[in-house]
Amino acid sequence: MEEGLSKPGEEEPWRVLEFYSGIGGMRYSIMKAGVNATMVEAFDINDTANDVYQHNFGHRPFQGNIQTLSAADLDSYGARVWLLSPPCQPYTRQGLQKDSNDARASSFLKILELMPQTSQPPVMLFVENVVGFETSDTHRRMAEILEKAHFVTQEFILSPLHFGVPYSRPRYFCLAKRKPLYFQNPLLNQQLIRAPGPLFGHNESMIVAGGNEPQGSLDKSLQACEPVERFLEFKHPSNGVEPESSWSHINVPGALEISAIGSLEQYFVPLSLLERWGNAMDIVYPDSKRCCCFTKSYYRYVKGTGSLLATIQVLMLHLPGYNVVLVLVASHTGATIIVHSMDYMQRRAEDKIESLEGLRPRYFTPREVANLHSFPENFNFPQHISLRQRYTIITCSMLLIFVYSYTYLPTVKSLY
Ligand SMILES: C[S@@+](CC[C@H](N)C(=O)[O-])C[C@H]1O[C@@H](n2cnc3c(N)ncnc32)[C@H](O)[C@@H]1O
Repeated sequence: MEEGLSKPGEEEPWRVLEFYSGIGGMRYSIMKAGVNATMVEAFDINDTANDVYQHNFGHRPFQGNIQTLSAADLDSYGARVWLLSPPCQPYTRQGLQKDSNDARASSFLKILELMPQTSQPPVMLFVENVVGFETSDTHRRMAEILEKAHFVTQEFILSPLHFGVPYSRPRYFCLAKRKPLYFQNPLLNQQLIRAPGPLFGHNESMIVAGGNEPQGSLDKSLQACEPVERFLEFKHPSNGVEPESSWSHINVPGALEISAIGSLEQYFVPLSLLERWGNAMDIVYPDSKRCCCFTKSYYRYVKGTGSLLATIQVLMLHLPGYNVVLVLVASHTGATIIVHSMDYMQRRAEDKIESLEGLRPRYFTPREVANLHSFPENFNFPQHISLRQRYTIITCSMLLIFVYSYTYLPTVKSLY
């Protein structure tokens, strides 16, 4: 592998191992961070993920169980930085929460336990997992191992919403550095930080360590987010229509029919699902500043698996003093204004399912999920990967968008 990311004249690159590499989210993060790194090897057991990794990076990860690696194997790579995004199922709310008793947690603990047995243990670790990991047995064990091996840690729960991306997916991140390496802001050592402020040097935000992020801070992040539209590959409804602030969103049935446009048709939510699960769906608009986390069951199930996108935007303007409303219906084919009586609107708005049908909700495409997960434009899937497989693997992977703003430390230089 040994592909360096350094520029001529720069210090020696970090030698990096990427455990649980999946489709390479950690590797893209390092690249995006502009870190001077040599990716020495990647490890993953999953064939499909490895196909996608190989397609994008021209290198096939070591395909096998991480649990079978020995200290001698690890030494042979001479790597000083480890990236680890172990399986989340042992800690997810949807899972059985078997924690360290779940076989899927054991390879992670095994690799950490091997670390002191290597002749050159890593000097830096990055760990990513779901929220819930921070209170797990596995986390407790990880903290013990790292402390014994003289690591200092800083831990975060952060979401793309904190970085201008209209997507709520809080994740746990741990950065660990082995002494004498140190963090620029030692006040955050051994703390769990739940807001981005400290990354940008805002000390007042450190108060949130250990507690939930204050609503005010979250609201500020939301306001600063770009609209969902910026992340779409198929742009639909507004078609340049910029409604005045007095226009308001409504659900109205029987709006314009949208005609099939090529492959987009496969993403529309079938009527049968709207009828059955409509009440449980999270529907967002192109101008929304937030959508919900996509899970690996997205596209197979609609309930609680991630947001859907309204492809017909309906906006209503009530003219004061008149018993009518102007209804603006915008789709990819254009925009139309219809005049309806207030009575008619009230009667129709009561029928929620019919209203949803009028919005023609669709799934976000895998490319759009990749965009919300901060994958670069040049990332793509090999042809043979099916639509369902694409959803499964892209929903498991997200770039550590904050790493690049934070982790680069000049003091690493002296250790190489
Ligand atoms: C949460 S995903 C990692 C996602 C990854 N960061 C990415 O960008 O796609 C966990 C990955 O670990 C792999 N995996 C789980 N247990 C493993 C094991 N014992 N040995 C090797 N790979 C394993 C899975 O195949 C999956 O791709």
